[in-house]
Amino acid sequence: MTSGEHSDGGKALWGGGFSENMHPALQRISFSMTQDLPLAIADLIASGVYARALAQCGVLSDLEASELDTGLAALLADFQSGAWIPDANAEDIHTAIEAELTARLGDVAKKLHTGRSRNDQVNTAFRMTVADRLTGILDDVRTLQSEIVNRASADMDTLMPAYTHLQRAQPVRLAHWCMSMFWPLQRDIERLLQARARALESPLGVGAISGHPFGIDREWIADELGFESVTQNSIDTVGDRDFAVEAVFACTMLNVHLSRFAEELSLFSSAEYGFITWPDSLATGSSLMPNKKNPDLVELVRGRCAGGIGDLVSLLTLVKGLALGYQRDLQEDKPPVWRSTWLAATGVQAMSAAIAGIVFNHPRLLAALSDDLLATEIADLLVVQGIPFRDAHSVVANIAAQARAHGIGLRDVAQHPGCSLPAPITAQMLSGLSHEDAVERRDSIGGTARIAVERQITRAKVLLSVTHG
Ligand code: ARG
Repeated sequence: MTSGEHSDGGKALWGGGFSENMHPALQRISFSMTQDLPLAIADLIASGVYARALAQCGVLSDLEASELDTGLAALLADFQSGAWIPDANAEDIHTAIEAELTARLGDVAKKLHTGRSRNDQVNTAFRMTVADRLTGILDDVRTLQSEIVNRASADMDTLMPAYTHLQRAQPVRLAHWCMSMFWPLQRDIERLLQARARALESPLGVGAISGHPFGIDREWIADELGFESVTQNSIDTVGDRDFAVEAVFACTMLNVHLSRFAEELSLFSSAEYGFITWPDSLATGSSLMPNKKNPDLVELVRGRCAGGIGDLVSLLTLVKGLALGYQRDLQEDKPPVWRSTWLAATGVQAMSAAIAGIVFNHPRLLAALSDDLLATEIADLLVVQGIPFRDAHSVVANIAAQARAHGIGLRDVAQHPGCSLPAPITAQMLSGLSHEDAVERRDSIGGTARIAVERQITRAKVLLSVTHG
């Protein structure tokens, strides 16, 4: 074994001046192959473009650049087909790729790292991979939004209670309830797009810390790799992980939304609500209780969100104490990103299946439309008669208290012995009440009247038609 080698024989890129081999304890915490594997494809693509940029600025001949570019493309194909498996004992994916390229092409591969550092290299592959994952999540969110719009459009006539404090509050259309899940996802789309734009600033060509010594054309590289802009300061660039934090935040906010939807669906599928039932393919049984059909899908979506919140905190904590430029701590930036993007993608896919698959129990929804949901409607009718809302509220509160005291519905107060209707409420006014009227009164933007919900759906469909590349 020569100096600068790892104890298992792997060669470090930087080992030339070292007289001892790496201590196994350092090696164990230093090597990052498992967490680096998702970077492999982007690193191979970026290296091919970098080779061509080196030829443009005269560091490589055209022939050398094309040998490297072809060799890297072959390596990429072999990686994707499984014909080349990166050495699990390499220090990192960049080392494994350079070692394999050198084994295949010989000396020309040793020129590829000219002017480049792993500091700008890892930042490049990381940004490309993050942008790619965000694109996948954007597509998944679009699918979930479409399922929501489908369910809303198909169920415009059904009414249900809306809840505040988990207590029945006012009647709404089921379609309105469905669409209440569309809009947070639309904000998630905006956040994911912003995070992707942030990731798509090209760092390649800033070197280790101070810039490129051979006048490389960073804008050309950025264009070739699909970046939208180039970073402006080499010191900032190699230590910048804002894009990763923002990507994880966008995913975490999305996961938190999914978790709230999950909680709602879980509640609604309990026997106490009975508003939805799960198809067998989306439910699980109990190993002991033969009667059970459990909503594990949504419980898992809700539970897995916890890890994603941890990932966001990990990443913010990782960067908060770092001096400017690259510090090796930054190697720990990848696991939180891989996990939270994976949690978001699989969580959204699970919720799409849930929204498409749940069965609404219409008789139960109808039965839940109790009289108390009409209390605000009575007050609103009094307002129409010219009574100030605060006075109307107090009159209706009186009826509601009587109904509660006798365990009867609001409309029954008119006939119930021992109850009396406070003026100006009449028995006729109470018997004329309907949930449908209460719903239809709320027809301004954001309301639950048919026209307002149809407006939402139309707007949602326009948003769904926008493509995000
Ligand atoms: N594996 C390292 C990382 O992910 C690559 C960068 C190493 N750079 C360095 N100066 N040691 O951060």
